[in-house]
Amino acid sequence: MLDNKTIVVGVTGGIAAYKACDVVSKFKKLGANIHVIMTESACEFVRPMSFQTLSNNFVISDMFEEPKTWEVEHIELAKKADAFLIVPATANFIGKLASGIADDMLTTTVMATKSPVIIAPAMNTNMYENKIVQDNINKLEKYGYNFIEPTSGLLACGDIGKGKLEDVDIIVEYVDNFFNNSYKAGNKSDFFGKKIIITAGPTIESIDPVRYITNRSSGKMGYAIAEEAVKRGAIVTLVSGKTNLKVPEGIEKFIGIESAEDLYNTLVEEFDKNDVVIQSAAVADYRPKSYSDKKIKKSDDDLVIKLSRNKDVAYELGKIKGDKILVGFAAETNDVLENASRKIKKKNLDFIVANDLTKAGAGFNSDTNIVKIIDSKGNIFEYPKLLKKEVGNLILDKIKEVIDNRNK
Ligand code: PMT
Repeated sequence: MLDNKTIVVGVTGGIAAYKACDVVSKFKKLGANIHVIMTESACEFVRPMSFQTLSNNFVISDMFEEPKTWEVEHIELAKKADAFLIVPATANFIGKLASGIADDMLTTTVMATKSPVIIAPAMNTNMYENKIVQDNINKLEKYGYNFIEPTSGLLACGDIGKGKLEDVDIIVEYVDNFFNNSYKAGNKSDFFGKKIIITAGPTIESIDPVRYITNRSSGKMGYAIAEEAVKRGAIVTLVSGKTNLKVPEGIEKFIGIESAEDLYNTLVEEFDKNDVVIQSAAVADYRPKSYSDKKIKKSDDDLVIKLSRNKDVAYELGKIKGDKILVGFAAETNDVLENASRKIKKKNLDFIVANDLTKAGAGFNSDTNIVKIIDSKGNIFEYPKLLKKEVGNLILDKIKEVIDNRNK
């Protein structure tokens, strides 16, 4: 349900603009408060009066119409929106947004908002596949804009191919899910629209087709954080080594990995698309120096396997951190605070979650954990034995504090 949610629907000038009427009507039936902004060319396809009637709100179509109020209006709408949906989005609109051009009410308002923006493109196949359009979409995705991919079919121009606006019901369902993930738990939605990547589970470093080196991580800690983050409204990418766990419901993207190298490549690829990275995976520091593509035969002698150093993924991300929030874990058996504190500095983390593996009910495979959180200023927060999902919420609370402090 979209009860009391304020959604700003941006309509740009394409033949699919008429379908936006249906979207607005369906949003209204689900209880949302809708404001429509139309570009000048959208008004050539559908009259503003249609949207006005369906949304029960004035339609804004030209920022210069009311010179005295437009600035206030667009900032007000940008602030009050819980989400923006651009439907249909033309190549022209996508190009302007990707280039930072704000020359009408829609581009100005979208650029002024901090709420999640969902873009549903529709255009001719060749235009959609054009490298420039694809680059613009990739760029916007990296900045956190969400896209509902067009489908394939017979287009208005007579061509057959990808570029047709996604089915209206699917668009409405996408937006509904976007909101509902944060309300499933009936509690907070303080991570609404925030993009979080969480690593979980063990890595596997292969020796030969039969054998590998791994560790005792079950993935429970990372999966618990992912579940709680989804409940609090985050858009979660879960990158996981091999586990026996079910992928949590509501995850936006699940990426299975094996080795530390896979993890590194995946995180580098996904890094820019996310606001927060939580690294709870137990990553192998070493891998066999050489991989034998045939099963190594046993002999009467001892077998020596030489190990090479893996990249420290957290350290590498720390070097390109920018304004992202980076959270690490420290799995320790001794000198917990000293070792964990060293890792915060080395890996440029905002804070680290240290678990003492020697304590019963902490660390690998249990449903509980006993953690200390140490922040970059050296403050230490100690907690009793808690369920891993409770630890997940503590971590999310700490991330929220970092975000709020940055916004002060
Ligand atoms: O999966 P469970 O069974 O629920 O167990 C949970 C857990 C014990 C695995 C988890 O709570 C935990 O402590 N994860 C981190 C384990 C670890 O690798 O710790 P570390 O101290 O070696 O590494 C410190 C940090 O650097 C971690 O965030 C780790 O993800 C990262 N790292 C480590 C090595 C490496 N080559 N690259 C990394 O990015």
